[in-house]
Amino acid sequence: MPGAVAIEAAGLSLGYEGENGPIRVLNDLDLTIGKGEFLTILGPSGCGKSTLLRAVADLLPATGGSLSVLDRTPTEARKSREVGFVFQEATLLPWRTVQENVALPLQVGRRSVSRPVEARPEHWLELVGLSGFADRYPHELSGGQRQRVSIARALQCEPEVLLMDEPFGALDEITRDRLNDELLSIWRRTGTTILFVTHSIIEAIYLGGRVLVLAANPGRVQALIDLAPLKDENGGCRRESAAVQETAAQLRRLLQEGSGEA
Ligand SMILES: Nc1ncnc2c1ncn2[C@@H]1O[C@H](COP(=O)(O)OP(=O)(O)OP(=O)(O)O)[C@@H](O)[C@H]1O
Ligand SMILES: [Mg+2]
Repeated sequence: MPGAVAIEAAGLSLGYEGENGPIRVLNDLDLTIGKGEFLTILGPSGCGKSTLLRAVADLLPATGGSLSVLDRTPTEARKSREVGFVFQEATLLPWRTVQENVALPLQVGRRSVSRPVEARPEHWLELVGLSGFADRYPHELSGGQRQRVSIARALQCEPEVLLMDEPFGALDEITRDRLNDELLSIWRRTGTTILFVTHSIIEAIYLGGRVLVLAANPGRVQALIDLAPLKDENGGCRRESAAVQETAAQLRRLLQEGSGEA
């Protein structure tokens, strides 16, 4: 692949320590993700999508092979705060308001210098449609609203690598479509490398420059598909277009083949 590399996995194996011995999740994974790439990840439940993101975020050590993040080990990349994570479930501090939760990484993060207006928590809350909610506490929000606070918090750090694990799964479709467009425009503006896990085939196509399809049992790469032919010069596409629908059907077949149901 031309250009700088953001994430490189070579023969990467990942798993967990189970009660009855090791649980192998992903085996011998080779993957190169370029800097500034938007990679979407599809795969059946339990195939190892979150596990892969956890390894990149240094929340899980590799059991074999190698993994580099921005030419460093995942631990070094995490320590330099270049990796942001939006988890499958919102992770907010219950004793802090919405605004304080969004601002938190600024306080503990590497950037302490004064930042421009667009870097303020209010800006990001507005972006995710929560401008009136700054003073509420997490328990006063719906699940989708909590998730949007998590997204605002991750975005405002402007990390070089942004890991998003089904971030929009709990949202209604209209909000989801809007956040898809917001995320694309943020990505275009910032050149952030994004790994985005989703169960929505259309979302994977709409957002991704490439889509990685993982298969289950054993977890492995089923396909890696370039979506560039579907995209216009701004990296956008129309969800209803024949080409998108055709690719969606192809991805659906791949997912069925890779679901590991014997
Ligand atoms: N902490 C853990 N200890 C043991 N096994 C785990 C642990 N976390 C996940 N697993 C197992 O690892 C496999 C992959 O889990 P993972 O969460 O990566 O799946 P996923 O692809 O993200 O699924 P989903 O689409 O449902 O979120 C599953 O079989 C799961 O049961
Ligand atoms: Mg998951």
